[in-house]
Amino acid sequence: VPTHVFLNSAVVPVGRARISVLDRGLLYGDGLFETLRTYGGKPFALRAHLERLRTSARLLGIRVPARPWERDIAALLRRNRLHARDAWVRITLTRGPARPGLLPPARTQPTVIMTAGAVDPGLVTAQRRGATVVLLPFARRGFLAEHKVLDYLPGMLGKVIAASHSAFEALYVDSDGYVTEGTTCNLFVCRRGQLLTPPAVEILPGVTRRLVLALAAADGLRIVERRLRVADVRSAAEAFLTSSVAEVVPIVRLGKRRLGTGKVGECTRHVQASYRQLVDKMVNQRSTI
Ligand SMILES: Cc1ncc(COP(=O)(O)O)c(C=O)c1O
Repeated sequence: VPTHVFLNSAVVPVGRARISVLDRGLLYGDGLFETLRTYGGKPFALRAHLERLRTSARLLGIRVPARPWERDIAALLRRNRLHARDAWVRITLTRGPARPGLLPPARTQPTVIMTAGAVDPGLVTAQRRGATVVLLPFARRGFLAEHKVLDYLPGMLGKVIAASHSAFEALYVDSDGYVTEGTTCNLFVCRRGQLLTPPAVEILPGVTRRLVLALAAADGLRIVERRLRVADVRSAAEAFLTSSVAEVVPIVRLGKRRLGTGKVGECTRHVQASYRQLVDKMVNQRSTI
């Protein structure tokens, strides 16, 4: 549990952070968020996350306050004693408080909240040994699925189902039988030397997904962006999940069944190594993406 949060312009103790009960983020889910990872205090791919936030904010007509994001994140990490560790940082942006009613007023004062925490130490085990995932009988759908809007109820329900099966993650399956993504991850499948992933339509265009696709292309892997049926995932030689926090996590079990050999495969290992290299490069060179 974080001791301090960033609220609008300053880092404050959690117990003293207050937002209005008329905040539209609370009343209507009228807002967006981003979750990124920091390595030894350095944010990874901050620019890409802010770009996605701005793109979605433009669609919703929410103003993104001009902030010295890197400095704000550094202050938040320091106050939570996370500056020397691997941590996650969540940026939440709401349209802010307004008079009640669904139609938003033309001008509002947006609310910015940032929270941070240590990356779960159990994640390393999932990355090394692979994880179990379960299939969900529903999906996030429609154009809003391409935006990280505050309403994450499908994800919350998915995580409850995953937890009830002691699974690491749950995959959405839409009513046409396509596996779209995980509750907080994108999905990749390795088959006959090809890397397959659903196109970034009606799913979240993950920052990690994009980086992994670029790395795989540079490594000469054949990439196919196409929709994946449940059978495509079940019969895959390998599959893995990507997200900013979890990076690249192999899938070795689908419910009660083994996926592929049930062991982490070569293609997944290769992608993990390339991603690790990219992280090291970016963090050490202090360059930004
Ligand atoms: C639904 C969904 N898909 C995919 C992802 C992965 O996105 P990213 O790589 O940008 O973290 C997330 C991240 O939280 C997500 O919520």
